Amino acid sequence: MSAIQKPRGQWSSKIAFIFAAAGSAVGLGNIWRFPYVTGENGGGAFVFLYLLVIVLLGFPVMLLELSMGRASEKNPVGAFRVLRPGSPWVFVGFMGVLTGIAILSYYTVIAGWTIAYLIKSINMDLDPKAFGNFIADIPQQITYFLLFLLASVGVVAGGVKDGIERITRVLMPVLIGLMVLLIIRSVTLEGALSGLEFYLVPDFSKVSARTFIYAIGQGFFSLSLGMGAMITYGSYISKDDNLVSSGAYVCLFDTVIALMAGLIIFPALASAGQAPEAGFTLVFDVLISLFNQMPLGSFVAIIFFFLLSIAALTSTISLVEVATAYLVDERNLPRGSAVLIVAGVTAVLGIPCALSLGGSDFFTHLLPLGNGQYKSFLGIMDFVFGNMALSLGALLLCIFVVYSWKVSSAVKEISSGNPGFQRWAIYWLVALKYVAPLAIAAILIYMVVTGQTLS
Ligand code: PFF
Repeated sequence: MSAIQKPRGQWSSKIAFIFAAAGSAVGLGNIWRFPYVTGENGGGAFVFLYLLVIVLLGFPVMLLELSMGRASEKNPVGAFRVLRPGSPWVFVGFMGVLTGIAILSYYTVIAGWTIAYLIKSINMDLDPKAFGNFIADIPQQITYFLLFLLASVGVVAGGVKDGIERITRVLMPVLIGLMVLLIIRSVTLEGALSGLEFYLVPDFSKVSARTFIYAIGQGFFSLSLGMGAMITYGSYISKDDNLVSSGAYVCLFDTVIALMAGLIIFPALASAGQAPEAGFTLVFDVLISLFNQMPLGSFVAIIFFFLLSIAALTSTISLVEVATAYLVDERNLPRGSAVLIVAGVTAVLGIPCALSLGGSDFFTHLLPLGNGQYKSFLGIMDFVFGNMALSLGALLLCIFVVYSWKVSSAVKEISSGNPGFQRWAIYWLVALKYVAPLAIAAILIYMVVTGQTLS
C-alpha cells in the first residue's frame, strides 16, 4: 500500500507502522522490567495473568488509541480538540504529553546504562560488584543519559518517515534474531531446566491481589498505553489499513518479546544458581555475573546490551515523538525546534533522575517512607508517571470513548479498513465499558491506599 501524499507524514506501509509501534512497545519494559517483575511475583502464574491482561485490557485500549489517532490525525492534545472541540477532555491530552516527557526523563537514564554496559562488555570490563559505583557516578550517569537523549531526538528530528521508519524497520528483525540466539544459549546451559519450570509452570498458590495489580501495570507500561503514544502513532496510519490486525500484531510482538526475554533470563539465572527475585538489578547486576561465568560470556554480553539499547531507543523515540507531534501540530513549531524544546525539558528533568541513584544524597533520599527507606527522585517519577498517570490516562480514555466520543464513532473509524469489525464491536464495548475501567480503578485505588509503586 502506498502512502497517500499529505502534508502530514504517513507510514509508507502497514508493515512500517507495525514495526514502529512495536518498536515503541518493545523496550526496557519487556527485557528489563518484565523478567524482574515476573521474578518477584512468582514466575509462571504471573506470566499467565499477564497474558490475560494483554488480551482483555491491553488489546482493547490499544485499539481505542489507534482509532482516536487515525480519526483525528493528531497528537493526543489535537485528537481531543478534533473529536470533541471545546471540551475539557483536551486536558487528558495535555496529561499525556507531560507524562511522555516525564517518562522519557527517567527511562533515558536507565537506557543510558545499556550503552554504558555495551561499552563495558566490548572492553571486557564486566564486574558485577561495580554496578553500585557505576550508578552513583555522576559524570558517567549524566554522559550516558545525554548521549541516549541525543540519539533519540536525532531520530525524531528526521521526521516520521526518514527517522523512525528507517531505524525500526532495520532494527526490529535484528532484535528478534539476536534474542533467538540468546535463548538457544541460555536454555542449553547446565541446570537451565529449573529456571524454565519456574517461568513456565504456573503455581497459582503464589497469586495474590498484588500479582494482578503488577500484571496490569506491567501490561500498560509495556504496550506504551495510557499517554497517547499509540494515538500519535495511529495518526500516521492510512485510512484503508486494518487497525485491528495492526494493533493485534503490535500486542503480539510485544508479548512474544517479553516472553522471549524471560526465556533468556530465567534459565540463565537458574543455571548460575541465582534467585529470580533480584528485582531492579536483575538485568544489570545479576546477568553481568552470569555472563562472567558463561563460555563466550563477553560475546553474549555484547549482543545482549546491544539488543537492549536498540529496544530502549525505539521506545524513547516514541516518547519524544508524542511531545514533538504536539508542538508541531498545535503550536505550529518547525519539527527541529520542537525536538530541541523536548530535549531541553527532558534534560532538565532527567539530570536529577540521573543523580538519584547514589550520585546526590539529596535526590537519592528525597522522600522518607517512614520505615528507614527512601524514595529517590527517579522512584517518585516512575511512581507518579510510569504507574499512576498511565493507568489514569487509560481509564480516562475508556471513559472518553464510551461516554463522549461514543463507541459507535470509534467503531466507524475502525470499520474503515476492516468492515467485519462491526460483529466484534460488542466485545470491545464490554472491555472498554466494564473490564478495563474496573481493573484500572482497582490498581489506582490499591496504589493510593498502599502508597506502593509497581516497579
Ligand atoms: N513500552 C515501553 C517499554 O516497554 O519499554 C515504555 C513506554 C514507551 C511506555 C512509550 C509508554 C510509552 F508511551
